[in-house]
Formats: sequence, structure tokens, C-alpha cells
Amino acid sequence: MGVLQPVERDIWTIDGDKVHMFGVVPFTTRMTVIRLASGGLWVHSPVEPSKERKRAVDALGQVRHIVAPNKIHSLGIASWRALYPSATVWASPGFSRRHPDVAIDQILINGVTADWSAEISHCVVEGHAVLDEVVFLHKTSRTAIFTDLIQKHYAGGETWFWRGVKSLAGILGENGGVPLDVKLSVRHKAAFQRSLGTIFGWDFENLVLAHGHCLRGGAKEDVSRAFRWIIEKATLD
Ligand SMILES: [Fe+2]
Repeated sequence: MGVLQPVERDIWTIDGDKVHMFGVVPFTTRMTVIRLASGGLWVHSPVEPSKERKRAVDALGQVRHIVAPNKIHSLGIASWRALYPSATVWASPGFSRRHPDVAIDQILINGVTADWSAEISHCVVEGHAVLDEVVFLHKTSRTAIFTDLIQKHYAGGETWFWRGVKSLAGILGENGGVPLDVKLSVRHKAAFQRSLGTIFGWDFENLVLAHGHCLRGGAKEDVSRAFRWIIEKATLD
């Protein structure tokens, strides 16, 4: 299997190394690369840039944008910035407070227009006490990109212990969804629902996740299922 996994035209994913959240919880990692109409590349949640990964990305075009989609995903931001110093680094609203040592150029807030906005929509999911996730839509491929808000960890390669924990947290396998701890830490329900309303207004059928199973086709129904605990079914239909 090559480094680049094609999702659709002009969008690829690259799997990174396994990491351990808080030093213990095993997470597989994944970055997403979109080739813009200009030929420049938009890189989401970069994993550590091995020689092989860098070569694969360079073959697609010039890295113009590097995106930190929430304050947790700082993994490869500084390394990619060092490799592509002319690229613009975009970060979630809370990123710099958590990572003051990682240089960024622009903060992603709702309503801000970027030079990639004609091709990629973004929505900062508001109303959450901990997570400041920015969700994206690659319009031409009809692909939604989530980072930690939806997780579907692979069961294979996990110990029975972590399979059990992830199953209880609602993030194991293709039926995974919003992690239990995220569900329990919504601070302003109405604001959270409003953000989800924006996302459900998007036209998408594919789903790319940073952790676990992605989906080709049927993504809107799947994402609706993932948020049914907080969104009325009538709102989703
Ligand atoms: Fe994550």
C-alpha cells in the first residue's frame, strides 16, 4: 500500500505513526492533503513528515497551507512549517493558548474568509468546554473532514483492554462516533447545535477522520447517526 490513499479527485490521506494520548491511550493518526485549483496543497492535521511522506506530498504540488484543526492536534505543525516556511499555518481558536511555542499565522474562526474558502468550507464547532474543533468540507469531492469530534478506532491491533475502553467510549469500529467525554462536556447546547446545523447544511457523502475508519458514500447519514444524541432527527432530515 502506498503512502498516499486517494479519497476522491484532488484529496488524499496519509497515515502516520501510532501515538499514545496522555502517554497511554493508543491512537492511529492520519493527515489529509487537498490539491487546490491553484495547484497548491492544503495540508490538514499533518503527521510527522518522514522522508517517504514528504516525497509523496511534494509529488502532488507545493504546500501552501498547513492546518491545525483543534488545539490537541499539534503533532506535525512545527515540523511541516519548518519544511515549508512560505506556507500559511492556520489554527483552531484555542490552539495557541495550549501551544504558545508553536508558531501560527492565522486563527480559524467562523466567518473568516481564506483564499481556499471557495473550495473548502470550515466550521468551528462552538459551545464545547474543551474541544475547539474546526470541521471542513472539500466541496468538489463532497468530503467532510473531522478530527476528534468523530472517532472510529480500528479494533485490529488493539489489546482487549483498549478495545473495551474504546467500545465503552463509543469510538470503536465503524459504528464509532462522538467520544463519550466529548458528549459529556458540551457547555452551550444551543451553540453546539447551531454549529452542527451549519455542517448538516453542507453537501457531503464522504467522511475522512483522523482516527480510524473513513467512509466512501453515505457519510451524511453516518454523521447524522453520530450526533443523534444532541440533534433531533427532524432537524437532520
Ligand atoms: Fe486526535
